[in-house]
Amino acid sequence: MNLDFTQIVPYIPFILEGIWVTLKFVSMSIIAGFILGILLALCKITKVPFLKRLADVYTSIFRGTPLILQLMIIYFAVPQLTGYDIPEFLTAVLAFGLNSAAYVSEIIRAGILAVDKGQTEAAEALGVPYKPMMLNIILPQAIKNILPALMNEFITLTKESAIVSTIGYLDLMRRAQIVGADIYRNFEPLLLAGFIYWVMVYVMTQIGKVVERKLRYSD
Ligand code: ARG
Repeated sequence: MNLDFTQIVPYIPFILEGIWVTLKFVSMSIIAGFILGILLALCKITKVPFLKRLADVYTSIFRGTPLILQLMIIYFAVPQLTGYDIPEFLTAVLAFGLNSAAYVSEIIRAGILAVDKGQTEAAEALGVPYKPMMLNIILPQAIKNILPALMNEFITLTKESAIVSTIGYLDLMRRAQIVGADIYRNFEPLLLAGFIYWVMVYVMTQIGKVVERKLRYSD
């Protein structure tokens, strides 16, 4: 075994910059996916058949095809159709956000259905309109129950983010590969990237725990 980390020392700032790149598009994708996911979940539980069907078809497409394929389709189809190149950042946010929304919508739908029916009935009996009922009564209770599942989704997204390296986006993974090719040693930079991904997920997990504790506190 000949591990030699000294050779990657000059490349450490280059690799560390990848953390910021990865965090930037992952956080944007999480926010986009979460908002779109809520909207889709609401479509799925309405009594309007068209909206229901639309949300189901959406989930079926984005959950039924590989994320790496969606990423590449966006990256290559946009220039072909419009004549304009699409930046890697935008491609990544679109692909990850749209994909995540499909999963988030199912998580939230389950969360909403798990809130006792009496809550809706009581709100309706009191004449609370649909929007404040959802925003102030149903969704806060749903979110509390589905927090672990949502956390799972965000962690999956963070790790799956590594596939943007396939479109040449200089994220953490791509940077580790470039360093490996530069010094003819792949193990060490990959090990470092792996450790950084682990730390990111660890930090997210801790944040999730704090949020969960805060939400439970109100019980
Ligand atoms: N590798 C899987 C795929 O290509 C992951 C999909 C992303 N998963 C997620 N929970 N958003 O389909």
